[in-house]
Amino acid sequence: MPDADGMKEAKKFYTDIPQKTEGFFLKGSNSYDWGMKNRLARIFNPETGRTVMLAIDHGYFQGPTTGLERIDIDILPLIPYADTLMLTRGILRTIVPPSVTKPIVVRASGGSSILKELSNEEIAVDVEDSIRLNVCAMAVQVFIGGEYEKQSIINMTQLVDMGTRYGIPTLAVTAVGKQMARDARYFRLATRICAELGAHYVKTYYVEDGFETVTAACPVPIVIAGGKKIPELDALTMAYRAIQEGASGVDMGRNIFQSDSPIAMIQAVRAVVHESETPEKAYELYQTLKHELAQV
Ligand code: 5RP
Repeated sequence: MPDADGMKEAKKFYTDIPQKTEGFFLKGSNSYDWGMKNRLARIFNPETGRTVMLAIDHGYFQGPTTGLERIDIDILPLIPYADTLMLTRGILRTIVPPSVTKPIVVRASGGSSILKELSNEEIAVDVEDSIRLNVCAMAVQVFIGGEYEKQSIINMTQLVDMGTRYGIPTLAVTAVGKQMARDARYFRLATRICAELGAHYVKTYYVEDGFETVTAACPVPIVIAGGKKIPELDALTMAYRAIQEGASGVDMGRNIFQSDSPIAMIQAVRAVVHESETPEKAYELYQTLKHELAQV
């Protein structure tokens, strides 16, 4: 039998210090369960509250996108610089080594190609497979105003329900149809609907006019997509403005992997996101790193 009195003496109960009940660092996320918070804390750096997600899931509807033809050759070297990797389970299983410990956001919707109506999607990954793959979040496209708007919203709410059972967050990706205005009014509507219906964080596009109203009206973190390839300085400026106007990070693809120097670009994006570096300074960093890498 252990000596009960002796044990009491040896232990430190700090009876004079009440246990802290900390708030959680991430916007709107304080009431989630431990597993959900832990996954979010792997996606978003708890020090900065921000993330650099590398999006390479484009193939799920458009096949071998420029820059993603050989993910094994061109993308694996970028992984050490990303906070999080967003991709399909097919690429994860076939190309990404299981020794990679970066958090994974799995593309969990699909069903249409660029040859058809894109909003006609369904949930395309079972939550059990997400658990098997040890993912940190599941991503689903939501087409507000699109032809299959309701179906895409229900895809999202079903993923939220399934993920919540197991502590897996859902990332709602606001997809904009070609005929829709990409303005703050639209993105306020789309992001808010996603958050109201349970998305744990939302991906959207940056708009120059009124983006701060989009982030202010959305009760969960927002990350921005990069969109079509633009000059590096412009992409860094967009990321900088988005962060300064309330975004919690980027989920960037083409403006990184289609850059002249993807490894230099992702590091410049990191400087903007995590260090609030100005676009000009980050672009200088990009050029320096690009030059150095060209010497190797
Ligand atoms: C596809 C996606 C992509 O992940 C998203 O578009 C991000 O990539 P990019 O920065 O190239 O726009 O969600 O629908």
